[in-house]
Amino acid sequence: MLPKKLHKKLENRKTSNSFRQLGEPNNLIDFSSNDYLGFSKSESIFKRTHDYLIDNNSIQNGSTGSRLLSGNNTLYSSVETQICNYHQSEAALVFNSGYNANLGLLSCVPQRGDLIIYDELCHASIRDGIQMSNAKGYKFKHNDLEDLASHLERSRELSSENDIYVITESVFSMDGDTPDLNRLIQLSESYNVHLIIDEAHAIGVFGQGLVSGSIFARVITFGKALGCHGAAILGSKDLIDYLINFSRPFIYTTALSPHELATIKSAYEALENSKNVEELHQNILFFNKEIERLKLSDAFIKSTSAIHGCIISGNDKVKQLSLQLKDKGFDVKPILSPTVPKEKERLRLCLHSYNSQEEISEVLSLIATFVNS
Ligand SMILES: Cc1ncc(COP(=O)(O)O)c(C=O)c1O
Repeated sequence: MLPKKLHKKLENRKTSNSFRQLGEPNNLIDFSSNDYLGFSKSESIFKRTHDYLIDNNSIQNGSTGSRLLSGNNTLYSSVETQICNYHQSEAALVFNSGYNANLGLLSCVPQRGDLIIYDELCHASIRDGIQMSNAKGYKFKHNDLEDLASHLERSRELSSENDIYVITESVFSMDGDTPDLNRLIQLSESYNVHLIIDEAHAIGVFGQGLVSGSIFARVITFGKALGCHGAAILGSKDLIDYLINFSRPFIYTTALSPHELATIKSAYEALENSKNVEELHQNILFFNKEIERLKLSDAFIKSTSAIHGCIISGNDKVKQLSLQLKDKGFDVKPILSPTVPKEKERLRLCLHSYNSQEEISEVLSLIATFVNS
């Protein structure tokens, strides 16, 4: 029997119409996955990976252990070198997922007495990492760099000995928007703080991402535009050595298999000369023009990324619209509170290189009928 308190929490989820259930795979038109470039289904990436493993006699299903024990297969260093070259980073460390990378970085780097100042809409993995750390976390208003600056000013007065870390995302996972990155870097330099940027939804969509190697750390993930699995932290050689020694989500877990690493390698190779990036950007441009034409601009959060949020307040309402779209053949996920704040519930539309302009016009017309009625 499930303990009473847990049972009550589940019941509360049901009464607030926010009970989560696993969905079935479907053949609907995809406006929901993070597979922005269609790499997850790319036959050529699949074949390149297969050929690489066979050619290198890597006939192995699992990695057999943590990277510090038996799991550090030879593909790791080759993939990490490839990542460093592509992202122009001094060093890189592969993690099993973006969730693990954020936990692994934030739980062990900021020390007791240090401060972590983070955007209020940062991903759950960032917030969980901050909770695990001994440092104190403070939020600043979403993408509001004046608010960040006033936090930095106050923090500087509070403590001159302890380190300050600032963390945000270059493309927000639920809003698709981007902070003013130049100003953010400028602020971090003038206040002498350590800047960390999560580039999960920027990598691939915007080439190597939206920030370069001069900042303290970047988190990149492979489960989105790269269509595979895993993540990496980019930073200095010293930072990577520190993580190898102290990052528990890195140390105490079984390493990725050679097959997973070879897929990451193939996906990077595909990225170098993929026409899919251009196709995705054409679709983003077209999508934004259609929003304007259909007078939906006020409902959508401004975005030039692959993620577009249409605010439909209330779990019931947004779920209902998502179901109506499903009936018409479109997979568009409702994002409910508490995942996003109350009243900010939304449809989250993800664009892909493989969406056609007809599909984009049709799904937006259906949304317009609902929103403007
Ligand atoms: C901004 C951000 N960081 C990290 C993650 C976690 O990445 P992964 O799915 O590889 O665990 C996500 C995934 O949704 C994300 O949106």
